[in-house]
Amino acid sequence: MKITVVGTGYVGLVTGTCFADVGIDVTCVDIDKEKIKNLKKGIIPIYEPGLEEMVQRNIEKGRLHFSTQLKDTLEDTEVIFSAVGTPPDEDGSADLQYVLNVAREVGQHMNNYLILVTKSTVPVGTANKVKKALQEELDKRDVNIDFDVASNPEFLKEGAAVQDFLKPDRIVIGTESDKAKEIMEKLYKPFTLNGHPVIFMDIPSAEVTKYAANAMLATKISFMNDIANFCEIVNADVNSVRKGIGSDSRIGNKFIYPGTGYGGSCFPKDVKAIIRTANENNYNLRVLQSVEDVNEDQKTILFRKLMDHYNGDIKGKKIAMWGLSFKPKTDDMREAPALNLIDKITEAGATIKAYDPVAMDEAKRRVGDKIEYAKDQYDALLDADALLLVTEWMDFRYPNFNAIKRLMKEPPILDGRNIYDRLEMKKYGFYYTGIGIANEK
Ligand SMILES: NC(=O)c1ccc[n+]([C@@H]2O[C@H](COP(=O)([O-])OP(=O)(O)OC[C@H]3O[C@@H](n4cnc5c(N)ncnc54)[C@H](O)[C@@H]3O)[C@@H](O)[C@H]2O)c1
Repeated sequence: MKITVVGTGYVGLVTGTCFADVGIDVTCVDIDKEKIKNLKKGIIPIYEPGLEEMVQRNIEKGRLHFSTQLKDTLEDTEVIFSAVGTPPDEDGSADLQYVLNVAREVGQHMNNYLILVTKSTVPVGTANKVKKALQEELDKRDVNIDFDVASNPEFLKEGAAVQDFLKPDRIVIGTESDKAKEIMEKLYKPFTLNGHPVIFMDIPSAEVTKYAANAMLATKISFMNDIANFCEIVNADVNSVRKGIGSDSRIGNKFIYPGTGYGGSCFPKDVKAIIRTANENNYNLRVLQSVEDVNEDQKTILFRKLMDHYNGDIKGKKIAMWGLSFKPKTDDMREAPALNLIDKITEAGATIKAYDPVAMDEAKRRVGDKIEYAKDQYDALLDADALLLVTEWMDFRYPNFNAIKRLMKEPPILDGRNIYDRLEMKKYGFYYTGIGIANEK
């Protein structure tokens, strides 16, 4: 079987490589020439555990190819996965220009039956637009070629993307054609042998499922952040509350960790986009509006705590920042809370020296010399007036607290992920504050 994957970002590259790994002939296409040049040499543009070795292995086996020309890949291709970006437009809606460009390009060049599968996260109704765009191109060519569209939203998590793709909780496929259903079922068979279900449904339901899943996860996070802030006011410890509620199987213990707000390339844009789509349909998703509001506040909670600690004036202070990526095990800084903190802290006149195990280059690209970059996590602490723990990388979990104390000028630790123990911090003599834990008076 031969397939094409368009877009070699987190989703496209993982999708293409995992399909190649089970023996399918895959060509991954991207308009970014530099990316494709590197990928042909087995160099991947992102940090994703396990992916680079897998890419190299499949290139060597001759099953994984890369190209900048979608049209060259279309002959005999049965399925095209479109995994291009759908960034937010100014009004919060998903920008569909890349998705529709792919549909048009396919229509301009296809010569045999194929299924155009949208893997990107797209608003309900997009499959119809994709179908129309493709058909218009066929009409312009005055040819009559059969094709199907399908919606196959992706649920992988950055940082665990390969494993999530190989062993998915479920695969959702929206299609209206039996032929497409049969081909997609066959294609995904290697990933479903362990009983992971393929859930077939109509296309609009598949499109909504992706947004509903992300919106639900974002809701859990904002709910817990709201409860955490309340806990602080009433002298309760959110860590205890979390364990207390998480043990209820109806609630579950995943995704109920308070922190500095959700970020990344998906939750913020997807929550905004579904609110927007609902508005266009004269419906107000009130819960999600609040989820957004809580998250916007939460992204600056460490800044507010820092200001409180220094009585509203941090001018001239040196701030150490541990963690820049929006979550551990990725270099992705899209909508990372670290970016809001960097803006707020530097605007207030303090300087930042930061360290992240993998996102340093990405940070340089995004914020340049707005901050200083440390050689390692301890280098960031030299003469610092505060340590902000922003991303809970494993490297930060058991640091040498004696060294931290020795290196820093002042000892406040502001733990944005509640990874340290308050009593232990007290023993070391740090001023410690987390999220949803009453502060030392
Ligand atoms: N990143 C995630 O964790 C994740 C998870 C699930 C779903 N999604 C969704 O998947 C989609 C892709 O996300 P991503 O993070 O992989 O994006 P990305 O921005 O990392 O990658 C998109 C790629 O598409 C390429 N591209 C754009 N137009 C093209 C065209 N016409 N032809 C060929 N290539 C083109 C870009 O050059 C880029 O390399 C988005 O809709 C996103 O919401 C992302």
